[in-house]
Amino acid sequence: MKTESLCLHAGYTPKNGEPRVLPIVQSTTFTYDSTAEVAKLFDLETSGFFYTRLGNPTVDAVEQKIAALEGGVGALCTSSGQAANLIAILNVAQSGDHVVSMASIYGGTFNLFAVTLKKMGIEVTFVDQRADDAEIEKAIRPNTKAVFGETLTNPSMDVLDIERIAALAHRHGLPLIVDNTFATPVLCRPFDFGADIVVHSTTKYMDGHALQMGGVVVDSGKFDWTSGRFPEFTEPDASYHGLIYTKAFGKAAYIVKARVQLMRDLGCCQTPQGAFYINQGLETLPLRMERHCRNAEAVATFLAGHDKVESVCYPWLPDSHDKALAEKYLP
Ligand SMILES: Cc1ncc(COP(=O)(O)O)c(C=O)c1O
Repeated sequence: MKTESLCLHAGYTPKNGEPRVLPIVQSTTFTYDSTAEVAKLFDLETSGFFYTRLGNPTVDAVEQKIAALEGGVGALCTSSGQAANLIAILNVAQSGDHVVSMASIYGGTFNLFAVTLKKMGIEVTFVDQRADDAEIEKAIRPNTKAVFGETLTNPSMDVLDIERIAALAHRHGLPLIVDNTFATPVLCRPFDFGADIVVHSTTKYMDGHALQMGGVVVDSGKFDWTSGRFPEFTEPDASYHGLIYTKAFGKAAYIVKARVQLMRDLGCCQTPQGAFYINQGLETLPLRMERHCRNAEAVATFLAGHDKVESVCYPWLPDSHDKALAEKYLP
């Protein structure tokens, strides 16, 4: 299936006689015949739904759809984009750790990184994404745990050179986390260029109708967490009787850990009703992105030719500094 078909059909395949539309499973809890079965679910010995904070069939369908759209091994829906970015970072970094972020990012993410993560003991160094490799690499420290950037930055519309920054991060054994909110997988799939984790504010184009706050974290399944730099992935988790994420979940270690550890403890989950709205938006995403792009092009071209306008940030204008990057990543 291509993107358009995935937007309609991925994540939910009704069987004979079942509802055509994704059902809203409006239930906090799921019943089982024996406590032994529930105990196994709690201990992650089997998989299944038992409590909506950790998983719900409606939310799960949207997670599978977005994972399919991005080409990842799994996804985790969150209550907002802010929560998605928080979880994406906390899943690899803790107090005493460090993150390198591009400076050109959404203001809310900047505050999360510069103010709140700092209070939690995680320091973030901001770098110019147009700086050369050597300049950016100067920011990397022994305790650095990730590199972060946005495909298309909010609000300056700079295009991230994903392939170059991913290669740079990988040279230092670090994952690249990309916020793909503005591009959506319709315009760009960061995993195709080496990104390891993708985050979204689904509140924007994915929802598309200004109905529902939401976020999502998507795992490419490609990053090797066993280098020794990420002990939380390779050492026993006492809260699950000594479970080791990389051993138990292989390629899905990152996204399973995000769910069973951080969503369990922080509780910033998406609701079934909310997931239903996001799914509704996703169904028409490719059509709307096409129109958004045409509208943006018309507005940018008009403004660029206006004598009262000093400058226009739009990567597809002929004299844009990011034109070549737009051609590569956002064709
Ligand atoms: C690029 C980007 N990332 C993250 C966020 C945060 O998302 P939310 O508002 O859903 O918490 C936003 C919101 O504007 C955004 O534009």
